[in-house]
Amino acid sequence: MKEIWIEKYRPKSLKEVIGQQEIVERLQSYSKSGNLPHLLFAGPAGTGKTTCAIALAKELFGDVWRENFVELNASDERGIEVVRGKIKEFARTAPIGEASFKIIFLDEADALTPEAQAALRRTMERYSKTCRFILSCNYSSKIIEPIQSRCAVFRFRPLKAEDVKKYLKIIAKNESLKITEDALDAIVHIAQGDMRKAINSLQVAASISKDVTVDIIYQTAGMARPEEVKHLLETALAGDFMAARNLLDELMVQYGLSGEDIIKQIHRTFFDLQIPEIEKVRLIDKTGEIEFRIVEGSNERIQLESLLAHLVLVGKVGTND
Ligand SMILES: Nc1ncnc2c1ncn2[C@@H]1O[C@H](COP(=O)(O)OP(=O)(O)OP(=O)(O)O)[C@@H](O)[C@H]1O
Ligand SMILES: [Mg+2]
Repeated sequence: MKEIWIEKYRPKSLKEVIGQQEIVERLQSYSKSGNLPHLLFAGPAGTGKTTCAIALAKELFGDVWRENFVELNASDERGIEVVRGKIKEFARTAPIGEASFKIIFLDEADALTPEAQAALRRTMERYSKTCRFILSCNYSSKIIEPIQSRCAVFRFRPLKAEDVKKYLKIIAKNESLKITEDALDAIVHIAQGDMRKAINSLQVAASISKDVTVDIIYQTAGMARPEEVKHLLETALAGDFMAARNLLDELMVQYGLSGEDIIKQIHRTFFDLQIPEIEKVRLIDKTGEIEFRIVEGSNERIQLESLLAHLVLVGKVGTND
């Protein structure tokens, strides 16, 4: 059976966690002291929130960490009542071993409505003698104030390019892969600081070939090469609408991209264009509008072509100045 690399390469201890140095140090000091307040982990996907929670539990509880740690998903489709039921059941029994408390890790806490969060807050208070909560969310602003003020807040950052590259190199070596430097850069570009995405991209590419190249990376990532997107935008800005339209077709077919995929990439590429700042701002404004329409379900071809048409017009104005 094929192993999933994101699990195989999940750091087992706090000191193995990549980046997030301040967070790791603070968590290590909790584990030394043997005590813990409630924690709130906020930050983007794939940056180590779940990893750190599990590693902390292992350091606090040792061999019996599984008995004293439970991971629940707050956005359980059966509702907060189910979650509270599970919390109650887990909190009912005393911690195993030397620990004086258990840890409840609650993922996607920001998916809860404010009312459900208020109920959660009462649950946290009720069991605070025997349980510590670690809440995980993408945006701490979506967590109600009374919960935030009861937790020590930890902000996870997207991982740095060099850190992602270093980790990927270790994995590549361990898996006997050959990977080019620009293929590593491509993964970094795709992942945007999300280590889970980076490792997954590498594994999917490696399933095609042990010789990983940029082409394989972009083919398997469902993303066009940034140079090609840039070329598309430059063609439109140069005034050649029909050529730009053909390029757009080719990109979408070749990489199997949806309107939403391509608009995200276009948005990112504006920053690389050699056009005045004010034009970039206008284009980004327009792109936001078009992305919204596509997400809301309007015809993506019509929307994307209207963006290309807009680019042609912007290009025309630019040359008249
Ligand atoms: N800081 C990190 N150091 C090393 N590996 C990491 C790090 N962050 C993430 N990873 C890798 O990505 C995988 C997923 O990470 P994790 O589950 O910790 O993400 P998360 O922050 O909880 O994301 P989500 O918000 O989606 O739950 C890990 O198993 C590991 O392989
Ligand atoms: Mg997680």
